[in-house]
Amino acid sequence: MTQLKTKTDIPVNIYRPKNPLIGRCLVNQKLVQEKAVGDVRHLILELPEKDFRYLEGQSIGIIPPGLDGKGKPHKLRLYSIASTRDGDHGDGRTVSLCVRLLEYPHPETGKTVYGACSSHLCNLSPGDPVKITGPVGTSFLPPDDPNANIIMMATGTGIAPFRAFLRRMFDESHADYSFNGFAWLFFGIPTTANILYKEELESCRNVAGDKFRVDYAISREQMNIKGGKMYIQDRIAQNAADLWSLIQRENTYTYICGLKGMEGGIDEALHRVAQQQGVNWAERQKHLKKAGRWHVETY
Ligand code: FAD
Ligand code: A2P
Repeated sequence: MTQLKTKTDIPVNIYRPKNPLIGRCLVNQKLVQEKAVGDVRHLILELPEKDFRYLEGQSIGIIPPGLDGKGKPHKLRLYSIASTRDGDHGDGRTVSLCVRLLEYPHPETGKTVYGACSSHLCNLSPGDPVKITGPVGTSFLPPDDPNANIIMMATGTGIAPFRAFLRRMFDESHADYSFNGFAWLFFGIPTTANILYKEELESCRNVAGDKFRVDYAISREQMNIKGGKMYIQDRIAQNAADLWSLIQRENTYTYICGLKGMEGGIDEALHRVAQQQGVNWAERQKHLKKAGRWHVETY
């Protein structure tokens, strides 16, 4: 597949909510082990129309069937794409997602409430139709530079775009792209049984050797130095000195995806190490964002 280089090459909104693409579920696979907290699925959706294309780091919209609480058709929900532009089957005719089933007790009745779109997706059977819009997003794309250093920080399903990045870097072979930089993933999950794509990440480690490092923050099994839950920001604080020197390099790009709540803690950890170097983190971060070297997609 050819490398797309300019923003004008980025496909956006090929399908809109008024006229969505009707895809089909090919695979719906549980991504968590027994005793995990909640349910997360890997979905492979077939794209029947050849004009739907996308890039790593983009998202698609899904429109769940039925009506919302006001009797209106459901609005679309966004999901990060978990496959490379070639799709999991290598033919560019599928798109994959990593979806957590939203479930919570109703504040008044205590009855379990399931999210409209996540339950639609997590309950799909092979052959079922799915309304797809997009793709969207032009700001979370990995750099073209094969020698770049890529720092990835994910909580839970925030791993989705990084699965795509890592597959393109280490699993697939391309005539025009061969990754030769360093990739460092920080991954926050509640339990070991919740490590999404664990086998793929292990296999990446074997293929990539010292080009890839992963550090887990397993919140309900590991403790931070204060005796609290080990969150991703605690792992970042532990590795702040190494991260800081990596971030200073002109060819280092950082990506943060998953829970909004992690952003403050990550900033705090980097603020502390920046301060030791006499650098104002807020200003440095602004500069990195402007240079396209700091990317955040939280929800
Ligand atoms: P809904 O039916 O829309 O229910 C959500 C609503 O339930 C909330 O607005 C809130 O009012 C209520 N609610 C939620 N929790 C509670 C609670 N504990 N107590 C009381 N009320 C509550 N999700 C993924 O799984 N994977 C992804 O890769 C992914 N990528 C995303 C990328 C982007 C850019 C964005 C913006 C979001 C992404 N999401 C992802 C989230 C996704 O879009 C949906 O928001 C999510 O799946 C829930 O949608 P739903 O239709 O199932 O829930
Ligand atoms: P916990 O749920 O133990 O509080 P998932 O989406 O699979 O639940 O994973 C999200 C991970 O992010 C969990 O380990 C969760 O921990 C953790 N988490 C929750 N809130 C925050 C936060 N504010 N900052 C960083 N990590 C968080």
